[in-house]
Amino acid sequence: MHNIAIFVSGNGTNCENIIRYFQQSSTIRVTLVISNKPDAYALVRATKLQTPCLIASKAEINDADAFLPKLRQYDIDFIVLAGFLLMIPPYLTDAFANRIINIHPSLMPKYCGKGMYGHHVHEAVKAAGETETGITIHYVNNVCDGGEIIQQFKTPILANDSVEDIEHNIHELEQTHFPQVIEQVILHGKR
Ligand code: GAR
Repeated sequence: MHNIAIFVSGNGTNCENIIRYFQQSSTIRVTLVISNKPDAYALVRATKLQTPCLIASKAEINDADAFLPKLRQYDIDFIVLAGFLLMIPPYLTDAFANRIINIHPSLMPKYCGKGMYGHHVHEAVKAAGETETGITIHYVNNVCDGGEIIQQFKTPILANDSVEDIEHNIHELEQTHFPQVIEQVILHGKR
């Protein structure tokens, strides 16, 4: 069994979708959800689905001696960032080389880096008059949004689309593709 920890900071629609997807799997499970925000709605979603949750501050996550044993306690061998807004410390990218993946709601390298998350991304995409956008699923390294790209999926932007329309289409792409890509990477390794 492969055990995933999902790191979250917010609403948790991706987190819930990933937990549900792997409930049907005999080889992969989400065994832990970790949030740096005590009030993240993702924690409510995970708890409803009987998935153990942990709240860990930035300082606690950055403390290798305290944090690594917590991951070991749940036998975690893969980390998924799903709307997680802190940088992953270097000791963790070393310990989980090619075993941490993130989803970003733009076609990287466009609209990523510091401050580019959630609706900020869609507002920037709309303001620039882009005719398409998409999602990027990528490995995590020590550069903000700098890891190797695994897969991207696109969606068109029509002239009348609002920022909310763009966000909606992005969420649909995330719901459709993220769990399958995670499964592919875990079962078949680095592409
Ligand atoms: C998702 O759209 C994800 O791509 C984005 O945050 C949202 C989280 O939604 N991530 C980033 O912007 C990372 N830079 P969720 O909490 O409902 O899954």
